[in-house]
Amino acid sequence: MRTLDDLDVKGRRVLVRADLNVPLDGETITDDGRIRASVPTIKALTGAGAKVVVCAHLGRPKGRPNPALSLKPVAERLSELLGDDVAFATDVVGDSAQGVADALEEGQIALLENLRFEAGEESKDEAERGAFAEKLAGLAELYVGDGFGAVHRKHASVYDVPRLLPHAAGKLIVAELEVLRRLTEDTERPYVVVLGGAKVSDKLGVIANLLAKVDRLLIGGGMAYTFLKAQGYEVGKSLLQEDQLDQVRGFLNEAAERGVDLVLPVDVLAATGFAEDAPHDVVEATAIPADREGLDIGPKTRELFAGKLADAKTIFWNGPMGVFEFDAFSGGTRAVAEALIGADALTVVGGGDSAAAVRKFGLPEDGFSHISTGGGASLEYLEGKTLPGLAALED
Ligand code: 3PG
Ligand code: MG
Repeated sequence: MRTLDDLDVKGRRVLVRADLNVPLDGETITDDGRIRASVPTIKALTGAGAKVVVCAHLGRPKGRPNPALSLKPVAERLSELLGDDVAFATDVVGDSAQGVADALEEGQIALLENLRFEAGEESKDEAERGAFAEKLAGLAELYVGDGFGAVHRKHASVYDVPRLLPHAAGKLIVAELEVLRRLTEDTERPYVVVLGGAKVSDKLGVIANLLAKVDRLLIGGGMAYTFLKAQGYEVGKSLLQEDQLDQVRGFLNEAAERGVDLVLPVDVLAATGFAEDAPHDVVEATAIPADREGLDIGPKTRELFAGKLADAKTIFWNGPMGVFEFDAFSGGTRAVAEALIGADALTVVGGGDSAAAVRKFGLPEDGFSHISTGGGASLEYLEGKTLPGLAALED
């Protein structure tokens, strides 16, 4: 894969695909991690005299302009972080984009409006996607792929544009891949993976692939209740994916056959409802009352999981252990984050909610070896899938 060192960018227009898909509360960015992660590549390019045109998506506007998902607030934050002006185009490939791109001088930066305001970006129709990719590619002479969080999407800006322009991988993608490779090749053992989050169905592929690789698999969060149910326990009103029970039984059997230590919660915080202030008690995971729902792992489980992480040499964690957005149910997720910080291991936090949780708790980011900017992307990488955005950069 070519990197920035392989591109001669001086005086040339470079289209950078970044992942600036940050959580917003109105126009307020609640976690700017992905914007910060995009800075090193942009700085390297401006430093080398490029004219930088950044493109990115925000949310899922489904191919139509939606003012609530404008990248404008992101342009402002990016500008603050870069300490440099960022010109903002109010469309993606229209007159504004062309004008802004044409006006760039060496070392200057522009951000295009949300790519997903254009139907061509995500289209499954190759011709429609291709036509949009042509227009996007027309804004620049070179392409740099750096939106790691979106490399699992076969979208025009991720997959088609690099086939139209000389291209290279940016610093973020290079850094992410360096770490993820260490989770798949010559992994130092014990190798422990912690998975959480609401749905088992989102994690099927990764569990299937990891059972052949890990020493221990710790399961918390909403998905744990389907595992508990598969073992024959009642889970009350907790999240449950009935249609995944057979699959999960298969995983439990396979773990036993392979000698993988698959660890489930032994106690949970069982609440009367899904609310910040819902009354709740600690109950055994095998005795969740019929009218309660588990919203976090309990204290004995936190200790159990911490013990399973203490001697690990490699740890990957994806997905919260409970409803960490509610303070009362954030303790389990915090405990796992702290156990990673305490471990003398390669510790990787896989994007999305787990990364947001780390920052919400105010834990030191340098307490982890790596906090990925890609949730879905890092999971699909660990599933062993071919990621369209990486394949396109390799060609
Ligand atoms: C993400 O947040 O997962 C990435 O930015 C990709 O966005 P998407 O899941 O909406 O495709
Ligand atoms: Mg996603």
